Amino acid sequence: MPENPPPSPSPAPGGPAAGPSLSVIRTLNRRARGLMTMAKRVAYRLPGVRTALFPEYRYWLDPGELAAMVELIDGTRGRGALVEIGVARGDTSVFLLEHLRTTGDPRTLVLVDTFDGFTRESIDYEVANRDKRSRELSDYSYGNARVFDHSMARLGYSNYRIIEGDCSKVDWSGIGPIGAVLLDVDLYLPTLETLEAIWPLIVPGGGVVVDDCVEPAWCDGALQAYREFIARHDLPFIRVGGKGALLRKPGPVDAGPRPA
Ligand SMILES: C[S@@+](CC[C@H](N)C(=O)[O-])C[C@H]1O[C@@H](n2cnc3c(N)ncnc32)[C@H](O)[C@@H]1O
Repeated sequence: MPENPPPSPSPAPGGPAAGPSLSVIRTLNRRARGLMTMAKRVAYRLPGVRTALFPEYRYWLDPGELAAMVELIDGTRGRGALVEIGVARGDTSVFLLEHLRTTGDPRTLVLVDTFDGFTRESIDYEVANRDKRSRELSDYSYGNARVFDHSMARLGYSNYRIIEGDCSKVDWSGIGPIGAVLLDVDLYLPTLETLEAIWPLIVPGGGVVVDDCVEPAWCDGALQAYREFIARHDLPFIRVGGKGALLRKPGPVDAGPRPA
């Protein structure tokens, strides 16, 4: 960086007054940026303050699960709907929407949540049949569909559709053929019922990433549902990342590399 600012450009023809004021603005801008950098230098070295500048992992899914979703999305381009079931405040929704934006994929992402946490029926099932206590289950009842919509729209996304309600009761046939699904509703009942409802709609090469397939955990109902589902449909257990599991419909991706 040169120490001294470059000489001001000569005034534009016909506008002698505009030249000096423009160069004043540029100088002020440069000074403000310099001050900001200096403030960051100081803040980055100050214990207590510097944590505000530290990196954070924003996602509840680990990189292996996100990578599996990206693979399913790209492998079904133009062939099926994209769905996230259980969106909470939308951290992963943003990741998925950003992937669609940066790859020029025009599909709509369908975002499903009760926006009111777990249903009474699925909590009662965990307590009555899975030895869980309702107070150990995370509470997502803070959700709100209108606020969620606002939070997506303010980032400039418009290629999403929100369905507010219990995923076990959604009319999935109305969504049509499905390419990729992230199923993240933690508990046994909604996971199993939704898998049974959506599996017939998954296109060849498409699939479902089920989060929280680990035990023991308060949300290990997802693992039990996944295990029962693959046993019933004679499918393999496929681990993705550290805690996800994948269901994949055999299809074009399995047919070997495509010609360039
Ligand atoms: C673990 S959070 C989802 C996190 C989100 N996928 C992410 O990665 O940021 C679980 C969400 O599932 C929702 N949920 C739970 N049971 C549901 C059901 N039966 N139908 C729809 N949504 C449900 C909850 O409201 C909560 O927002």
